[in-house]
Amino acid sequence: MNNGAKLMTRISALFSLALGCALAAAADSVRLDELDLHTGEQDYSDPHANLSVDYKPMTIGTKHFAHGYGAHANSSLFIDLKGTATRFMSSVGVDGEVPQGKGSVEFVVMGDGKILWRSGVMRGQEPAKLADVNLTGVKKLSLLVNDGGDGIDHDHADWADGAIEYSGAKPETITGAPPEPAEILTPAPAPAPRINGPAVFGVRPGHPLLYRVPVTGQRPMKISIEGLPDGLTFDPARQIISGQLTAVGPHPVTIHAENAAGRAAKKFKIMVGDTLALTPPLGWNSWNCFAGNVDAAKIRLAADAMVRSGLIEHGWMYINIDDTWEAGRDAAGNIEANAKFPDMKGLADYVHGLGLKIGLYSSPGPKTCANYEGSWQHEEQDARQYAAWGYDYLKYDWCSYGNVVDKSQPQLTQWQKPYQVMNAGLRAQDRDIVFSLCQYGMGDVWKWGAEVGGNCWRTTGDIRDSWGSLSANGFSSAGHETYAGPGHWNDPDMLVVGNLGWGSVRPCHLTPSEQYTHLSLWCLLDSPLLIGCDMSHLDDFTKSLLSNDEVLDVNQDELGRQAARVSQAGKLEVWAKDMADGSKAVGLFNRDDAPAQVTVKWSDLGWTGAHRVRDLWRQADLGPFSDAFTQTIPRHGSFLVRVQP
Ligand code: GLA
Repeated sequence: MNNGAKLMTRISALFSLALGCALAAAADSVRLDELDLHTGEQDYSDPHANLSVDYKPMTIGTKHFAHGYGAHANSSLFIDLKGTATRFMSSVGVDGEVPQGKGSVEFVVMGDGKILWRSGVMRGQEPAKLADVNLTGVKKLSLLVNDGGDGIDHDHADWADGAIEYSGAKPETITGAPPEPAEILTPAPAPAPRINGPAVFGVRPGHPLLYRVPVTGQRPMKISIEGLPDGLTFDPARQIISGQLTAVGPHPVTIHAENAAGRAAKKFKIMVGDTLALTPPLGWNSWNCFAGNVDAAKIRLAADAMVRSGLIEHGWMYINIDDTWEAGRDAAGNIEANAKFPDMKGLADYVHGLGLKIGLYSSPGPKTCANYEGSWQHEEQDARQYAAWGYDYLKYDWCSYGNVVDKSQPQLTQWQKPYQVMNAGLRAQDRDIVFSLCQYGMGDVWKWGAEVGGNCWRTTGDIRDSWGSLSANGFSSAGHETYAGPGHWNDPDMLVVGNLGWGSVRPCHLTPSEQYTHLSLWCLLDSPLLIGCDMSHLDDFTKSLLSNDEVLDVNQDELGRQAARVSQAGKLEVWAKDMADGSKAVGLFNRDDAPAQVTVKWSDLGWTGAHRVRDLWRQADLGPFSDAFTQTIPRHGSFLVRVQP
């Protein structure tokens, strides 16, 4: 071989080596279940590796898959491809746990904002389709599932055997939202006293009253009550009014608070009558953080944290145990708590001792949603037990009632019956128990929830900490405002801010703007506010969201007039709520994915001329504005103001 030939051989050997390396590198692949799926968002449950959304092995049609990413519509997972990816392949379909014809989803694969593949609408029991997508040159991959246009029921969506081929740096999941600073807007409480909470509190005649007066400001502080009627006493050290009243009607008192920095007075009405929950209940519930991992120790910690964090001074009142406290029944049919709750009465006494109230959960069916003992055919007996233990709030679900419902009855009767039965049980007790219906809005519950004794009723399915879920639950309240008022409230479900996670606690997925929207909208909607996070790990940002008294005043306003949507231009909306002092609380919302200007016109509030505007989150006057008020609002953000007439 001559030199030229030798050189050619060497070049060709090097070339083969390089090609071989390239081929070997191109063969790298990462399966979806090997990626960090925590960044994925979905409107029900969390993304699961190698399991369906209901934690079953993955199946599509008749085919089983060992690997994959189990999602639920609407869902999104974003992947930074690092410029190294060449191909994405996945079988997709509705998981086999969904019956035929149920569930309808569409899988969409996007690259750098362009649609690369879509499945078309797929339903339960249909065979898998194969997405095989060339990713050369694509930087960001988006795996999306939409609800097929008909809501998210049964939309269990499997990306089965999904994998990305790449050569070089390994693709990684990223969050979908552009990064946003968690800016604290709520000013720190002033040193002078401010008496917080509602201006009215209701109790039934002859029933025990417990009301802790919430006051911010530096201590020591002297708190007193002027005009307290006979039958009630006030313990200034614990800030608790307690006792009993029999005379029906309003009992007006004045609360005074004084410290070195100043003094405050507030008119407060104790209403005796058939008058519970005259303002929406404020508190905490165990479900969104602990789900089935709740126990008595965690309830005590939540109550302690309510006090220690100072949230108690902003009017937060209830500590509610959700599902999974129940055991079975004793020989006499009395409901018993399981080993996680060894002393239900002791727990209630402990919580009451802090000046807080306590709630629990049940279901009218034989089993609760988490498959624990329900109240079926023991309703009055259960109500008696709750009262004997000293409970103040019952969340009453629907689960498994569908199996025992009397189908010969008209549909509306079927829906109403279990709530009428439990309401009668609660009414027979000599204790006030707030009655919270949880049947997800079936039969337009807002139209009859008050009639069956409900103090509040869920209007939607379970909330998740995704923008899709939050905005669907909140903004679908438009039109429900006619049915809410003192003692009966629409409930688009609990708060999803802070560290939560339905059993495995993690930070909430909502952006700061989305969290401000959540609180602003829920306050305008006069929704019950039940904090869903781990109270013993409350970060400063979350605490600031929950301790803005001017924002909470919107929710706790005595008039109890839920906000209505007064204007809508595409994804920009304005909601307004009448306040007892003649002012209006107004929320400007941007549901779009980019910043936008939102305007409230005074004519949409029925007003003309110039009006003073106050920014409620910053607690700052913005001055008078003629005809309208405009703000530039970030993606998914809001601006909450109070406008004087
Ligand atoms: C239903 C409710 C939830 C929670 C669970 C408990 O899903 O909507 O808020 O109470 O039941 O199992």
